[in-house]
Amino acid sequence: MTGVQRGAGMKDQFGRRIDYLRISVTDKCNLRCTYCMPVEGLDWIDRAEFLTYEEIASVVRQMAGQGLRRIRLTGGEPLVRRDLPDLVRLLSEIPQIEDIAISTNAILLPQFGSDLRDAGASRVNVSLDTLKRERFRDLARRPERFFDATMEGIDAAERLGFSPLKINTVLLKGLNEDEVEEFAEITKKRPWHVRFIELMPTGDNLHLSERFLSTDSVLKRLRAIGDLRPAAGPVGNGPATYFQFAGAAGTVGVITPLSHNYCDRCNRMRLTADGKLRTCLFGTHEVDLRAPLRSTGDVLPAVREALRGKPERHLLQLGTARGSGGLRALSQVGG
Ligand code: 5AD
Ligand code: SF4
Repeated sequence: MTGVQRGAGMKDQFGRRIDYLRISVTDKCNLRCTYCMPVEGLDWIDRAEFLTYEEIASVVRQMAGQGLRRIRLTGGEPLVRRDLPDLVRLLSEIPQIEDIAISTNAILLPQFGSDLRDAGASRVNVSLDTLKRERFRDLARRPERFFDATMEGIDAAERLGFSPLKINTVLLKGLNEDEVEEFAEITKKRPWHVRFIELMPTGDNLHLSERFLSTDSVLKRLRAIGDLRPAAGPVGNGPATYFQFAGAAGTVGVITPLSHNYCDRCNRMRLTADGKLRTCLFGTHEVDLRAPLRSTGDVLPAVREALRGKPERHLLQLGTARGSGGLRALSQVGG
């Protein structure tokens, strides 16, 4: 049987249990990473279209009654939406929710980190594609002081006890590939979980397909700088495969949306800032929750419809328009 059943949790038509929701609270961002967003920005979602925090909490409350257990707040950059700690507090009051994590570029963590933690956020994933200050301008297309702010944000995350600390690094051939050893070296001493992510094609970055670098080639290089063994990795919900240098404080992970497929263990759905429930990162299948929220208030029929339509796997292909599967930018669907 598929759909929402009392006590049985949310299962899709392929029997996958869906207990994890990624919630995009805004499509805006204070950076312009090359693979994610054009410098001039995107056609932003009108702010009037956003779900309110109360509406997001209502969706989570209803889905929690059906088996939802874990939340990640994403963007764009989630911390640019005003009063984000208020949303975290609303979500942490929902008894079934066991874990609230945030994906961020860390820039606003010195400002909002302690409020977010006090409101109930337990972990952050930080996006960091370079350790070189002068490179930030090319990769994130913002002045170097934004790099300094990012590093201060990572320090704040450590100081505030957000743990485990995951660092997401998108691999870009010829742009940051020379830094993989340096990133990995950090994990020997500090409890960072550095995850190398293969570049995913989106409608806006197809011109970058020659920048694709596979994680297999990276792992091969990392074996040259230490005794790298498979490891259990930190707690989380994700598709990463982890490794660890002997005696290291942290781990190295790889996320391989293209070269290896992990759709068979997919446990998630995504909620866009304007209230569309998306069943797969790629593809265009989505069901609107905002209209039912604003009429009867009951979103479960729409959730059931989404579960029925969740595809078995993505059909990504590098460097083709079809390969982007209808996805324009990750900032619009919450990474
Ligand atoms: N390919 C791979 N990763 C991406 N991200 C955003 N766009 C892409 C893409 N096209 C990453 C960000 C961040 C996470 C939320 O998603 O760098 O680490
Ligand atoms: Fe912003 Fe993240 Fe996109 Fe970079 S990848 S532009 S930090 S949303």
